[in-house]
Amino acid sequence: TASLLIAPSMLSADFSHTAEEVQSINTSNADWVHLDVMDGMFVPNITFGPKFIHDLRPHSDLVFDVHLMIDQPERYISLFAESGCDYITVHGEASVHLHRTLQMIKSSGCKAGVSLIPSTPVSVIEPILDMVDLMLIMTVNPGFGGQSLIPAMLQKVERLAELRDKHGYNYLISVDGGVNLDTVGEIAKKKADVAVCGSAFFGAPDRAAFIQAMKERAQV
Ligand code: DX5
Ligand code: ZN
Repeated sequence: TASLLIAPSMLSADFSHTAEEVQSINTSNADWVHLDVMDGMFVPNITFGPKFIHDLRPHSDLVFDVHLMIDQPERYISLFAESGCDYITVHGEASVHLHRTLQMIKSSGCKAGVSLIPSTPVSVIEPILDMVDLMLIMTVNPGFGGQSLIPAMLQKVERLAELRDKHGYNYLISVDGGVNLDTVGEIAKKKADVAVCGSAFFGAPDRAAFIQAMKERAQV
């Protein structure tokens, strides 16, 4: 089985040194760069937009995994696609015509992701799972780094893995929120493919050693 991909989240980086911070992701042997876009409406926090991603793009060859925590994300898909995103993930709760939004992402040339907050069941996305490239399961309430993982959310990961087996879907399953050395083993056991990690990565004294330890604990 393939190893768990680790996606450090720039949310916990020092924004006064973002090029150096993304370079530390490159050299740590992590796999993806996770970028949390917040609009102060869908979530109670504000981060950055497409220009930030565009300016960061030349500083890493890793996959840019962009998580849009914004209302009506369909308004901004083309701007984000032009900024150099690989995956664009929108919230199922933020886009009424989610099928159309995913079509927009795909026709922009990006991979299409859907994220669900803790109170939203997997069943809402089941009818269109065949067109999803990434399922991003929130294991905290989105808006802030440094919160504890809500264990009941891992049932959603199991369910998505079952549905994928049963129907032959192709999406990757990602877990976002409260991922650290203590929780990564359980996440890998539930057959997640990607683990997003903000505060634990940027707070580690040695980021490369941290990634190595995460990958060891993910061998389950
Ligand atoms: C939270 C963001 C996460 C955040 C995770 O709304 O979606 O990506 O960076 O942070 P940690 O790993 O600290 O829980
Ligand atoms: Zn995120």
